[in-house]
Amino acid sequence: MDIIVKNDYEELSKYTAGIIARTVRSKPDCVLGLATGSTPIGTYKELIRLHKEGGLDFSQVRTFNLDEYYGVGIDLEKPYEADQSYARFMYEELFRHINIRQENIHIPDGLTPSPEEFCAWYEQEIRNCGGIDLQLLGIGGDGHWAFNEPGSSLGSRTRLQALTQQTLDDNYESFYKKAGIDRADMPHFAITMGIGTILEARNIIMIANGVRKADVVAKSIEGPVTSQITASAIQLHSGGITVVLDRGAASKLKGLEHYIYVEKIKRQFGFEPAD
Ligand code: GLP
Repeated sequence: MDIIVKNDYEELSKYTAGIIARTVRSKPDCVLGLATGSTPIGTYKELIRLHKEGGLDFSQVRTFNLDEYYGVGIDLEKPYEADQSYARFMYEELFRHINIRQENIHIPDGLTPSPEEFCAWYEQEIRNCGGIDLQLLGIGGDGHWAFNEPGSSLGSRTRLQALTQQTLDDNYESFYKKAGIDRADMPHFAITMGIGTILEARNIIMIANGVRKADVVAKSIEGPVTSQITASAIQLHSGGITVVLDRGAASKLKGLEHYIYVEKIKRQFGFEPAD
């Protein structure tokens, strides 16, 4: 596991976008797993800049989003008229600014009448595309990946999941309040990739910023592997794992000094790609 500690959110975002950009350049038809939340917004901004100023080409890239609220969704032909769906978020923060093809975008359908069938199809579609090359992940305030709330099996697959009070509170503060939506009217369920699904991605980048994430970051990386902090499944992944943190999010790591040392020495010996 590479643990990279950046000075601030801007550096974290540039570094993360750099990893994604290298994947796209080395495999133009790569499959990216994408995340929502406030944390990846800076990464998406930087990817847009790399596309506009550096010609980063998304024309063959396929994407799968981690999750979507259940009961909301958008008409993909008119993404800007929609509600608080994660689909709308993705179009606004990334997709409409880059040259990705509509048919290559996959986001769980929050309006599906049969979630079970849809989830099985989503899993199959990931397999049909050859699996996810690089999965971007944030971490929720209760230590979740995607919407795998505490108690989710670490082998879980894409499914419908009830949201915890803490997640409802966090998401209300980040998104729904601004939109003037009443807390009681927020969706209480979501369709989410499972932990087992996520662990099949060949490479994983987890990002977190701010001291409010320090506790769950430390628990996920250094605590016991537990379904109570589903991001602790990171310790079970067998592929490439990069955790990119700002100083605040890294502040409760017991091994912080060691991780900073390892990053430095790897760079010295040329193991780490230059920013
Ligand atoms: C939601 C999403 C997660 C995300 C989390 C953190 O719960 N389902 O995928 O990691 O929010 O969001 P933020 O980056 O805003 O802290």
